[in-house]
Amino acid sequence: MSTVVLIGAQWGDEGKGKVTDFLAEKADVVVRYQGGTNAGHTLNVADQVFKLHLIPSGILYPGKTCVIGNGVVIDPAALVKEMAGLQEQNIDLAQLRISDRAHLVMPYHKLQDELDEKQRGEGKIGTTLRGIGPAYMDKVNRVGMRVADLLDELELREKLSAILEVRNMLLAKVYGEQPVSLERIMGELRQYADTLRPYITDTSVLLEALILKNKKVLFEGAQGTMLDLDHGTYPYVTSSSPTAGGACSGTGIGPLRIKHVVGVAKSYTTRVGDGPFPTEITGATADRIRKIGREYGTTTGRARRIGWLDAVVLRHACRINGLSLLALTLLDVLAGLETIKICTGYRLRGELISHVPASLKALEFCEPVYEELPGWQEDLSSAVRFEDFPETAKAYIRRIVELLGVPVALVSVGPERLQTKVLHEIF
Ligand code: IMP
Repeated sequence: MSTVVLIGAQWGDEGKGKVTDFLAEKADVVVRYQGGTNAGHTLNVADQVFKLHLIPSGILYPGKTCVIGNGVVIDPAALVKEMAGLQEQNIDLAQLRISDRAHLVMPYHKLQDELDEKQRGEGKIGTTLRGIGPAYMDKVNRVGMRVADLLDELELREKLSAILEVRNMLLAKVYGEQPVSLERIMGELRQYADTLRPYITDTSVLLEALILKNKKVLFEGAQGTMLDLDHGTYPYVTSSSPTAGGACSGTGIGPLRIKHVVGVAKSYTTRVGDGPFPTEITGATADRIRKIGREYGTTTGRARRIGWLDAVVLRHACRINGLSLLALTLLDVLAGLETIKICTGYRLRGELISHVPASLKALEFCEPVYEELPGWQEDLSSAVRFEDFPETAKAYIRRIVELLGVPVALVSVGPERLQTKVLHEIF
């Protein structure tokens, strides 16, 4: 079997887009399994810039099957727009497949996301306001609309009108908002259904067949381990399972079908949105890293919070995901620093701990215990081979491997494909 699950090992934005794109060239199939338009990749391919939110980046290569799995929540308006944008850039969508079991993000989910964040005030999560949480809430509450519903207009109307009856009551009585119009949403969905219909299928059946034909399948996680609904810094998390287990439930394949789990980690740490972040730093070093690493969100444009590499978080990611390999990104950004810190443990009320506590209060009290390593001045982005890296950069990677017990397969030192150094083949 030739299947790889690629996940974010930190709080998202680890550079998964670039690594996915790198692996997608070799893969036959690329699959998204959770999240929605809260994710975003910017890819530089052959002098063109592509911005993707829902469609797997394999779409940029002719002949690759690209699957949006059942675990994804699809905003049909955003998907249709993304498809049109790609077609304008001469990208062929013939190999795109959309799960008929995926749930839809409806206009009232986006409204609800905004209202919920407003209502949380100081305690806001800092969501992307893309309606992700409310769409997953409806899925779990068994009142979600699914892609399959788009295919039968009569049933669609019946379901939606029952949902809106309750939803509009909630909007008016709790939030003092105007009701959402059934006819307006029906009109929009009808158009989206026409565009999406040719791509909709049972993607679990499709994937099983492709895996059995020994096709190279890449499952592309969005967000990251620390944003996982179960294993992240709850409630400052997203509403899905970005971790490796999510690839099974989010696509309808069994766990024994997965061969490798690759964790993507930045060479430092970033986080957008609110919530605890033990190794966060502010001041000149943080500003420098933000500037050089262009640490602004692809989806929302927000400045990312910056911190040192946190081996406690990464060990958490290794365990939760069962990582077999690591891909280390943005190593070039750290050039020019006198020393670089790695957090190897937390001190909590005088006690040394080596795991991420469940309680957010406890996590807020955790003080990082740092190890300080010498930095390097050389520009890594133009290094042709890994062997050409300065000894201190190699030592930094070696120390990460020692602390995590997982080998590094890829090191990325810039946005271009050639700026990826391969230490172990993945496919
Ligand atoms: P939501 O997924 O929009 O509900 O947002 C929940 C939390 O996840 C917020 O802190 C967001 O900033 C964060 N988040 C969601 N998607 C991403 C992502 O792709 N990268 C980084 N953070 C994200």
